[in-house]
Amino acid sequence: MAKGVHHQFPRCLTFICLVMLVSNLNSTQSHGDQQEQELELLLSFKACAKDSSQSLSNWLNSSATFCNWHGLACDQTSSHVNSIQLSGKNMSGTISSSIFHLPKVTNIDLSSNQFAGEISFSFPSSSLSSLLYLNLSNNNLTGSLPEFLFSVSFSGLESLDLSNNMFSGIIPHQLGLLSSLKYLDVGGNVLVGRIPSSITNITGLEYLTLASNQLIGEIPRDIGVMKSLKWIYMGYNNLSGEIPKSIGNLLSLRHLDLVYNNLTGLIPDSLGNLTSLEFLFLYRNNFMGWIPASIFDLKNLVSLDLSDNYLRGEISELVVNLQRLEILQLFSNNFTGKIPKALTALPRLQVLQLWSNRLTGEIPKELGMHNNLTVLDLSTNNLSGEIPHGLCDSRNLNKLILFSNSLEGQIPHSLSSCITLRRVRLQNNKLSGQLTPEFTKLPQVYLLDMSGNKLSGRIDDRKWDMPALQLLNLAKNNFSGELPDSFGSNELENLDLSENQFSGDIPRGMGSLSELVQLKLSRNRLSGNIPNELSWCKKLVSLDLSHNQLTGQIPISIGDMPVLGMLDLSENQLRGEIPQNLGSAESLVELNISYNRFHGRLPSTGAFLAINSSDVTGNDLCESDDISASRSGLLPCNKREDNNKNPFWWFFLLGLVGFPLAAFLIVVFIRRRQNLEVTTTRVENEEGTWEMRYFDSEASKIITIHDVLSSAKEGVLIITQGRKETVKFEVKEMSDLNCFSEDIGKLRHPNMVKLMGICRCGKGGYLVYENVDGKYLSHVVGSLSWERRRNIALGIAKALKYLHAHGSSFAGLVGEMSPHRVVVDSKDVPRLMLCPLKVSISSPYVAPESRNAKEVTEKSDMYGLGVILIELLTGRSSVDEEVGMQHESIVEWARYCYSDCHLDTWVDPNMKGGIASLVQNDIVEVMNLALQCTATDPTARPSAGHVFKTLNALTASTSSCV
Ligand SMILES: *[C@@H]1O[C@H](CO)[C@@H](O)[C@H](O)[C@H]1NC(C)=O
Ligand SMILES: *[C@@H]1O[C@H](CO)[C@@H](O)[C@H](O)[C@H]1NC(C)=O
Ligand SMILES: *[C@@H]1O[C@H](CO)[C@@H](O)[C@H](O)[C@H]1NC(C)=O
Ligand SMILES: *[C@@H]1O[C@H](CO)[C@@H](O)[C@H](O)[C@H]1NC(C)=O
Repeated sequence: MAKGVHHQFPRCLTFICLVMLVSNLNSTQSHGDQQEQELELLLSFKACAKDSSQSLSNWLNSSATFCNWHGLACDQTSSHVNSIQLSGKNMSGTISSSIFHLPKVTNIDLSSNQFAGEISFSFPSSSLSSLLYLNLSNNNLTGSLPEFLFSVSFSGLESLDLSNNMFSGIIPHQLGLLSSLKYLDVGGNVLVGRIPSSITNITGLEYLTLASNQLIGEIPRDIGVMKSLKWIYMGYNNLSGEIPKSIGNLLSLRHLDLVYNNLTGLIPDSLGNLTSLEFLFLYRNNFMGWIPASIFDLKNLVSLDLSDNYLRGEISELVVNLQRLEILQLFSNNFTGKIPKALTALPRLQVLQLWSNRLTGEIPKELGMHNNLTVLDLSTNNLSGEIPHGLCDSRNLNKLILFSNSLEGQIPHSLSSCITLRRVRLQNNKLSGQLTPEFTKLPQVYLLDMSGNKLSGRIDDRKWDMPALQLLNLAKNNFSGELPDSFGSNELENLDLSENQFSGDIPRGMGSLSELVQLKLSRNRLSGNIPNELSWCKKLVSLDLSHNQLTGQIPISIGDMPVLGMLDLSENQLRGEIPQNLGSAESLVELNISYNRFHGRLPSTGAFLAINSSDVTGNDLCESDDISASRSGLLPCNKREDNNKNPFWWFFLLGLVGFPLAAFLIVVFIRRRQNLEVTTTRVENEEGTWEMRYFDSEASKIITIHDVLSSAKEGVLIITQGRKETVKFEVKEMSDLNCFSEDIGKLRHPNMVKLMGICRCGKGGYLVYENVDGKYLSHVVGSLSWERRRNIALGIAKALKYLHAHGSSFAGLVGEMSPHRVVVDSKDVPRLMLCPLKVSISSPYVAPESRNAKEVTEKSDMYGLGVILIELLTGRSSVDEEVGMQHESIVEWARYCYSDCHLDTWVDPNMKGGIASLVQNDIVEVMNLALQCTATDPTARPSAGHVFKTLNALTASTSSCV
């Protein structure tokens, strides 16, 4: 038999040869035989592992003394292997179960490699393993938890770490057999089912982690018998029910973390027994009622986080007992009353976050004076009174977030010397007075939002020196005087000084803000010319100078700004002609020049092509000789001369005069290729050739070019066939020439609106779509349940996956991946529209790299999908005013909110049916996905296939749980 075994090696051990081998080991053998067999077991392990870093290079058949091999250690007297230490050796492949048969092995550590696959074999139940310590964490192992481990054979095991793999299935009921365990970690897998009640058999367990799985059911009632427990981490599961009262017996417990579950009821009084507790984390559950007074007996608490629950009542002054407390987070609950004065007497308190409650009264005057504050967030309460003076007495405060309260009075002088400040958000209060000269020299502040207060005074009478500043928002105050020439920062990306009383010229120094993306100076009293230098801001996407008293002409150089997408100059006293190059600024899509003193001819290209009359009105402008004539509502500069050069005018007139005349003027020739899928029709007139390609044989029979052109304005084409049967189509203007490819007509997918044909002349043209009975996603999102939102996301991902699978030339065909390009039909199926109008590069759905380089790849589609996901999750539109004001974009906002806040603060409160806790993990996962999709680095974004797969897995898992 032994011979047969030898022939198998050094192949990766199969189940069969293992059984043979095991029986060998069990028989009485000489020492030499045993050595031989240990050698074979080790070589079998090597054969299964892929060892790209050559960590096993000296594991050679020839070397009989394996005790010298890398990663092995032997018992000194008997020369048996007793320890395998191969953590972090970059190994992959599978783990051969042979190593579990090494007769004297006590320690196996294969953690932090890339071992994959299942570990399955049977271990003879009669034999007792000598294993004490097993660590397979941080690999890519799949399948059920290895069943053989949960047996009497391994009842001597003291430490078992299987965390951060892909283990699925349940935790075996036989867990209780491992009664010697002190350390158990199966966190970070995809385990389902309940926590086996037999776990309470492991009374010596000190460290227990079950976190980040999909466990359901209750925490075992009699967990109180596991008196050795020092550490419990069960967060990020779907556990329900109440915290068992018996938890009060775990007198050794130092760390209790049950976050992100579906736990309900009151926080048990008995927690007050756990006087060793240092960390108590219960956030993001459904706890109700008050904080039990006994919690304030936990004198060793370092960190207490009960945020994102339904807790109410006042925060007790008993908090004064928690003298070691460093972190207190109670945000997103329903706490009322005042902020307890006792907080001011906690010497170690660093982080205090009480935002989104219903707290009233003043902020305790001594807050900060005797604490060690680094982060203070009391935003979105009903706090009144003044900002206390001592908040920065720690000399460590870096986040000061008090927005959306009713705070009044001046900004305390002491904050002006708080040089550690980085993020300051005091907007939407009633703060008054002036900014001190020192305040504008804070060296580390990168975000300063003081908008929506009653601040006043000049800001140009001092030197601004804020080298880290990225966002400055002083909008909606009463600041006056001239604008400063500089803010002392080269990092400034977002500057909003709108709705104040600023006067004087726009400083030329603004031209040196090389990172500036958004500049809002609207609704002030600025005068003088628009400085040429503004056009040096090469990253500027949005420029709003409206509602001022600016004079002079539009500088020619504005038209050369590479990424300018939005320009609002309305309600000023600008004059002269509109520079023609503004019409060739390719990035420009939104333009408002209304109510100035412009005269002359409106350019007929670029953004002017589709300009609305309200954006040009109030000037002395006339329409140039081009197709956009009718949109602007302006009179043509010279009607007689220009009319017949304009095919659109021409067709418009034709419509009036009637088809008979049209038929007379037009030379028609039709070429039909019956056997090809794509049929082409041409109509020629003196202006050129209109060509229509049909992608649908029915459409080719009933739609004519004339039909398309005459319905272009309405956007709907209705064809009445005999016997009053009508067929409806949608007609949209086209700007992307990629669309005019025959291949696009072949694209057919249930999640795409069917393209029936394309009609074009020169560079312009129209797309004819099937008429879908439904609404744009942008209009319906607010009323949808989570399931429907997720299904919509899934459908869009599916369409993108299909599109991208057809080759990279179809990337970007959707153009702007936005909710305005998705129709949700009457059966609730999302349908993507290909080939839209020109994409606005300032659109929040356009990926950053496409904004500058205009290059569109699959990854830019993924960015747009990411923004849609964020909108589906948060219910916020990317043009949401609140979001837009405080954060650069919805993406920034989501990133901030996701990292800084808890679920309830960003998930759409209107989500129909509320958010069942079952899906809360899903929501977090989808947000993760959304943030990956919106990564600035395109290569970091996942593929449509990956997004589809992830969403699909969620759909599958939730429907099977319900
Ligand atoms: C882990 O396994 C999954 C599927 O089994 C695979 O898709 C993934 O690439 C693996 N990851 C690594 C790092 O090996
Ligand atoms: C509890 O552990 C003992 C060994 O200490 C074992 O005999 C018994 O079967 C275990 N009980 C359960 C329910 O696992
Ligand atoms: C709290 O501890 C006391 C002993 O200090 C014990 O008698 C009591 O049962 C414990 N309470 C709970 C609910 O565990
Ligand atoms: C969460 O707990 C509540 C109350 O116990 C229950 O009604 C609900 O079904 C639970 N949700 C999930 C997803 O388990």
